[in-house]
Amino acid sequence: MRRRILAPAVVLGLVLFGVQSATAGHASPPAAATLIGHWTFDEGSGTTAADSSGSGHPLALQGGASWAKGVVGPSALAVSPQQDAASAVPVIDTSNSFTVSAWVDLANTIGYQTFVSEDGSQVSGFYLQLRADTGRFAFTRLGYDSTAAYGMIATSTIVPQPGVWYQLTGEYDARAQTMSLYVDGALQQTIHALAPWSATGPLAVGRGFFGGSPTDWVSGTIDDVRAYAGTLPAQQVRALAGTGSITVREDQAGPALNPTQLGAFLEEINHSGDGGVYAELVRNRDLKESSSSPVYWSAVQGGGASAGIALDSSQPLNSANPVSLKLTVGSLPAGGRAGIANDGYFGVPVTPGTMYHLSFYAKAGASFAGPLTASLESSTGRVWATATIPAVTTSWARYTATLTTARGIPATLDNRLVIATSSAAAAGASAWFTLVSLFPPTYGGTANGLRVDLMQKLAALHPGYLRIPGGNYLEGNTLSTYFNWKLAIGPIENRPGHLNSAWGYWSQDGMGLLEYLEMAEELGAQPILAVFAGYTLDHTVVPQGQLAPYVQDALDEIQYAIGPTTSTWGAQRAADGHPAPFDLHYVEVGNEDQFDISGSYNAYRFPMFYDAIKAAYPQLKIIATTSVTSRTPDVIDDHYYSNDPSVIAGDAHNYDSTSRTGPKHIVGEYAVTQGSPTGTLAGALGEAAFLTGLERDADVVIGASYAPLLVNVNAVSWPTNLIGYNGLVSYGSPSYYAQKMLGDSLGDHVAPSQIVGGNGNLWTVASTKAGNTTYLTVVNRSASPATVDVDLAGVAGVTGGTSTVLTGNPDAMNSIAHPAAISPATSRLGPAPASFRHTFPASSVTVLALTTG
Ligand code: AHR
Repeated sequence: MRRRILAPAVVLGLVLFGVQSATAGHASPPAAATLIGHWTFDEGSGTTAADSSGSGHPLALQGGASWAKGVVGPSALAVSPQQDAASAVPVIDTSNSFTVSAWVDLANTIGYQTFVSEDGSQVSGFYLQLRADTGRFAFTRLGYDSTAAYGMIATSTIVPQPGVWYQLTGEYDARAQTMSLYVDGALQQTIHALAPWSATGPLAVGRGFFGGSPTDWVSGTIDDVRAYAGTLPAQQVRALAGTGSITVREDQAGPALNPTQLGAFLEEINHSGDGGVYAELVRNRDLKESSSSPVYWSAVQGGGASAGIALDSSQPLNSANPVSLKLTVGSLPAGGRAGIANDGYFGVPVTPGTMYHLSFYAKAGASFAGPLTASLESSTGRVWATATIPAVTTSWARYTATLTTARGIPATLDNRLVIATSSAAAAGASAWFTLVSLFPPTYGGTANGLRVDLMQKLAALHPGYLRIPGGNYLEGNTLSTYFNWKLAIGPIENRPGHLNSAWGYWSQDGMGLLEYLEMAEELGAQPILAVFAGYTLDHTVVPQGQLAPYVQDALDEIQYAIGPTTSTWGAQRAADGHPAPFDLHYVEVGNEDQFDISGSYNAYRFPMFYDAIKAAYPQLKIIATTSVTSRTPDVIDDHYYSNDPSVIAGDAHNYDSTSRTGPKHIVGEYAVTQGSPTGTLAGALGEAAFLTGLERDADVVIGASYAPLLVNVNAVSWPTNLIGYNGLVSYGSPSYYAQKMLGDSLGDHVAPSQIVGGNGNLWTVASTKAGNTTYLTVVNRSASPATVDVDLAGVAGVTGGTSTVLTGNPDAMNSIAHPAAISPATSRLGPAPASFRHTFPASSVTVLALTTG
């Protein structure tokens, strides 16, 4: 027969507190608490749940109790009526102060369901339960071990829902004579209570005990049950709920944030430059991608014409570009056409109302006089734009034309560029072409410039620096394939290009040193210029006696970047179109030289570069790519990659105890390599957690940049990247948005902050900006929301602000088809006191931008 324990207000009339404010504490100081039972239920199989508290009270699973996915750890206890788990003997002395907690996820909210109890002879010594009479959670005791005893019930204000995890904590304070119930760390009710009797039977999970019999079985899942002797401070109760408190010391200035705090790193990988941010639409314009055939080119034979194409080195344009594309026309009947076509980088993007700038070098054989028609055409032959080149001559000459598409046409990628003749005189004749180039409008209208949508995405990150040009790309596999900047400046026809041996494709070097530096400038970022340091990926080390020319190349390169226009290389920069020096402050010597196991980096390579650069440019700061003892670098570049988000998140504290008097650090490359071609939200959360640590340590960590930055989704050299694109559209990954959120919330100074609780799932950083703005970034890597008490120490309150949240399925990724599946949402916040409670969603990065008063 069902009995019911009467509500305490009726029996005792002594409800002490209702729901408390975030900062409310206990009526009296809590007694110290000792963990005396802790069942994680992470076994996932078998019939025993171990007690990890060390008290030696395992629970035996009974009646077919089983296992389910956990909310804390991998698994939990799954029960339904007649199923439970119980200890052999009592665990809790219920006559003294005690605390009991559990996570519960109900299959239904029908009837009484007791999650944790301890048997007396007639009734349980306590019930942490769902009550049928109120439909609410309760922490219930009876005054003595009898069904006739008076009841004391601390009740929840919330009404539980099935299928939701709740964390319940019940506390009996024998000294204060109170009982309290917390749900998800929030105090629900404290009541007067006196029950100085000790339960004598087993502790049970999944049922209660009444009238001398087990009862009140649970339908659902129970996880992470804990028992304490004594009561816990409210902060620790919140911590049990996977939540905690964050104290931000607004009244204390932490380290100043660096202008370089969040940057970007670009190298030629995944067709980041060619077929990426370098806006050129013609692929293999220099005809060097293959030495055996004119790949990405085809012959155009329309209307009964016949024609062939071939690589030809008999008609060199110059020594840098000796190979051309020879068009040989066979027959060319009236109405026909013969010519060449280029497929672009996985298609030629065509957009409405757009002007495309065509240029090419051509040389006509006898009787091949033109005119030529250039056109942008779909694969089905639809012509989007045309231009006429009236004539070509028998000497090499450069031709230009503009192709303009109509407004209202669709944006398409399945197109090609065609240059053809319909002149009957061309029949049986030949012509040669090279450096055929087609540029859409570029970012800022720069000649030989950059792709607009990608630059917009990068500019939106407000990178403090752009680390260029690599990476492995800088080093190359061999001494003939490293990034030799001197061969990648000046007019494009004078650039020979080189094999990007690090990533296995040809680099035409249209994106050369000037373009990298200009890109930094266009982004408002300072360049971090990495110079080749005499080591290649095949472990070739330039001997000490042969290194001087490479050191001189680096000095010349720096002079190109910042030397006066009266200097040799400064004058070259001016001749190349950029008289003003670039905003260079940091030079990096090499890349990942820890892989040079010969020890040459420390022995002589770094010292030779360091000494020469410091002598010529004492104002520059020099970055070493690994620890060195032979000199003291200004900065050391550390790289972090892991496919496990937890590993990267765990690195958030790596610089907490780094010497503040030694070199500073930059994280020139970091990423969670989970997901492809761009990463998952889980990866982004791990990275964001890492970045909170780097920001907090801004006095020693000057910056960080994700790597790699860009990926053409059709040409993936590296699994996980920040921004994906094809020729037409681009998208940011969750990592992109996380970085953007952290970058958008950099104040002037770090505000010291402390997080308590959160079960290791929460990461935070705060900063303040002149003008009363506080940025609070919180990363919640848990699968559950985290309710946190935020205390802004040193301010009167919050007058308003915004909350920007990135959240979703941790496995989710963005893509060309779903570019914003995971993207941040911003909402307005109203006024709040300096101490307020906030819930951070499961699997989320949140930035609170708060105006404080
Ligand atoms: O970011 C991809 C590569 O990773 C970089 O080229 C190299 O520096 C690192 O090993």
